[in-house]
Amino acid sequence: MLADFEEHGVLILRDFVSLEACKALRQRMQEMVDAFDPGTVRSVFSTTSDAHQADDYFITSGDKIRFFLEAGAFDADGSLRQAKVDSLNKVGHAMHDLDPVFDAFSRTPELAGVADSLGFEQPGIIQSMYIFKPPRIGGEVVCHQDSTYIYTEPESCVGFWFALEDATTENGCMRFIPGAHRAPLRKRNFRNDQGRLVNEILDGTPFDLADTVPAEAPAGTLVVFDGRAPHYSGPNLSDRSRHAYTLHVIDQACHYPANNWLQRSDELPLRGFLP
Ligand code: FE2
Repeated sequence: MLADFEEHGVLILRDFVSLEACKALRQRMQEMVDAFDPGTVRSVFSTTSDAHQADDYFITSGDKIRFFLEAGAFDADGSLRQAKVDSLNKVGHAMHDLDPVFDAFSRTPELAGVADSLGFEQPGIIQSMYIFKPPRIGGEVVCHQDSTYIYTEPESCVGFWFALEDATTENGCMRFIPGAHRAPLRKRNFRNDQGRLVNEILDGTPFDLADTVPAEAPAGTLVVFDGRAPHYSGPNLSDRSRHAYTLHVIDQACHYPANNWLQRSDELPLRGFLP
């Protein structure tokens, strides 16, 4: 499995978590969504627009639990077109440290074992995201590398992506370019002196989207992928949501730059996979 991960940059582990655990996490998120008032915050997250890069609600969300809506959530009158849970793009970025149910899902001996096998000296879960990919309006995620956003020196970011519902080509599963993680990091995203997020081009080579393969993942699947592995997902035009939960892990032995977008207060120290 390790050789496969190193060759392709991606490893798909079916039945890693139980369907009961997936359901419990979805239920906990539903409770959090029920308590969220979209009238108070109208922050949209879309990878096809840069609006969130200047949005303080997004930029300061690294150690909080915040709600981001889909670009297509509202009708012309400003009302939600679908149920609240089917209007959200994601929730992030510290459920794993602030909510006991998410904490327990995110820290298990099995996950600690995976991180150990991958060679982490001192893994730290730097962020968690709950991705809704709602029916009909779930937006496209353009091709990117996660180390663009979660950058360490040397690079150490690895994504742990859990399918909480079946992810298929119909509802916008992730797609990867096998082996492309061996190519350079294309961009780095960081805070400039004005506190705004900007992208620096490190290598202008475009991603070869003709080479992507779908990573279909039944509920309970864990997809582990290298921080340099280019990936994207198409829009969800189907009638079924595609809920997923992700953790991004860095090695605390590496340098974490102070101008990375994601910063945490000292009251929330970085922790690994052990409960
Ligand atoms: Fe990503």
